[in-house]
Amino acid sequence: MSDTMHLTLTDRIEEPGNIIRLRFARADGAPLPPVTPGAHLDIHLADGALDLWRQYSLCSDCSQTGFYEIGVLRDPNSRGGSEAVHRLAQPGTVFKVEGPRNHFPLTETAAHTVLLGGGIGITPMLAMAQRLHDLGHDFTLHYCTRSADVTAFRQMIAAADWRDRVVFHFDDQPAEQRLDLARDLPPPAADTHLYVCGPQGFMDWIINTAEAAGHRTANVHREYFSATVDTTGTSFEVVAQRSGLTVTVGPEDTIAKALARAGVKIEVKCEEGVCGTCVTDVLEGSPDHRDKFLTEDERADGTMICACCSRACSKTLVLDL
Ligand code: FES
Repeated sequence: MSDTMHLTLTDRIEEPGNIIRLRFARADGAPLPPVTPGAHLDIHLADGALDLWRQYSLCSDCSQTGFYEIGVLRDPNSRGGSEAVHRLAQPGTVFKVEGPRNHFPLTETAAHTVLLGGGIGITPMLAMAQRLHDLGHDFTLHYCTRSADVTAFRQMIAAADWRDRVVFHFDDQPAEQRLDLARDLPPPAADTHLYVCGPQGFMDWIINTAEAAGHRTANVHREYFSATVDTTGTSFEVVAQRSGLTVTVGPEDTIAKALARAGVKIEVKCEEGVCGTCVTDVLEGSPDHRDKFLTEDERADGTMICACCSRACSKTLVLDL
């Protein structure tokens, strides 16, 4: 792809909670492509048989042009990406990187913004907080973790001009100190926007509560960094219209895999419906959306599908491939 770069890891900073903060720059120090808050990098992880792409939100100040920073949690329950980053991320190592891309953009015209980060989901919120501060906009950042001693980025936040906008919530503290959505969410308003990133249960809780309280779906912005997705179901047929091919997607199969076997390649990265890499146009048929990437409007429209995980409600799907 045209936006592939080779970036050198210049700094590795150990943060509490098994999190590392990684800084990447060009080897010659030249400026990097501009970035907006909420953007992520796709990072290629290659080591022996390992050949993965993983997405990491940028946490650095977007006005910086000399480097990008991300935070990575070492998660033993992940599918290998985070362990690989912790192993491979040594200063001086060169990584193949794509992006930055932004599927989680900040609405900079909002009168009030509430940022809600759970655990490593704080990373995009740090860039958003800096931008909102620079714009002079009203915002609050709620940062939820298990306890104070596993809370990453505390030093960075303590040094930030916007530190007074941050409310920490620790699970091991008394109930009144934890996030209380009845207390901590603002009343719904057309110019109030919420941003949510964190573990799936944390996100689902906040999104469902906010929408039930009357916040418009379009004002509740979300970035899933992983998701548990059931890709199984009954068989259906997929027609790759331009290729003139028809394949059967079996109960344990996916559209992307079935088409790849027939020689029609769809680029796939996260394989769990969160990154959007595999989004494909639907010409006919009814998608059974399993992803967390498409918006409610896009799902209802039925003209796009995440081919890594979603299936079909109809017997046949015709794709623009
Ligand atoms: S590969 Fe990430 S959504 Fe399909």
